[in-house]
Amino acid sequence: MANLAQVYLNGEFLPPDQARVSVFDRGFIFGDGVYEVIPVFGGRLFRLPHHLSRLDASLSAIRLRNPHTPQEWNGIFTRLLAAGSGDQSIYLQITRGVAPRDHAFPPNITPTVFAYAQPLKYSPPEQLAQGVAAVTAADIRWQRCDIKAIALLANALLRQQAIDQGAMEAILVRDGVVTEGAASNIFIVKNGRLVTPPKGPFILPGITRDLVVEIARAKGVPCDELPVKIEALSAADEVWLTSSTKEILPITRIDGRAVGNGKPGPMHAKMFALYKEYKQAFIQGQAD
Ligand code: PDD
Repeated sequence: MANLAQVYLNGEFLPPDQARVSVFDRGFIFGDGVYEVIPVFGGRLFRLPHHLSRLDASLSAIRLRNPHTPQEWNGIFTRLLAAGSGDQSIYLQITRGVAPRDHAFPPNITPTVFAYAQPLKYSPPEQLAQGVAAVTAADIRWQRCDIKAIALLANALLRQQAIDQGAMEAILVRDGVVTEGAASNIFIVKNGRLVTPPKGPFILPGITRDLVVEIARAKGVPCDELPVKIEALSAADEVWLTSSTKEILPITRIDGRAVGNGKPGPMHAKMFALYKEYKQAFIQGQAD
């Protein structure tokens, strides 16, 4: 982290080693806060209004006021991004603030606001060319996975479970249906149709997921938002994960078995090309 030029903390831009947060911050003590990760392509914040509106939804779900206007956020991000180059990502988090440890909300508390920019680490080309492995795992998380909460213990345990089994991602299953990945959304392809689980309390409303659905609908690619049973996952022609930093990545092995013919499929090639086309138009200011 020390190679970051500066971070933003509570109104100040500081070298990371000078940014200090109290040990009594409720983010540290309770995981009481929310976050966002926003990719920056060609110097432009990708789908910024979507990320800020999801941030508003997360904040209101945990009963915190947004400490900044969109213009103020934009100002903070622009200053953080100026120190870097190439494609970057913004991480931002807001916790309820500092108070003596008590589960109940303390009155008149000031939120802690933290943000930084870092270079975007794209998936290695071989992952795109060959796809990645995933394992299925019981979704042991709570019932408000739609909130982008910083309390990610279950997600971290599940991701590590996948790594320990030689895979990249855990595909989470609740009551026999796929919810999402430990840090991604999931799509399957069957007979030329895309299917992704519907939004609701058990998944994060992914910005990349929504964009893939939007592009599919605009380009006439059949796409359903419907529950995906574990049997449908096993029988899928293709499976993908989506996220702001991994974009659209094919999953070609699940629990040690090949997905379809074990190679990234033609629908992935098509949708990824359309996504990259959209991204290029965005970089050139021709898409929002
Ligand atoms: N995670 N579901 C979960 C549980 C996630 O953590 C993420 C992203 C997504 C994909 O959402 P989006 O397309 O908006 O990035 C879905 C981020 C990247 C992270 O925690 O680093």
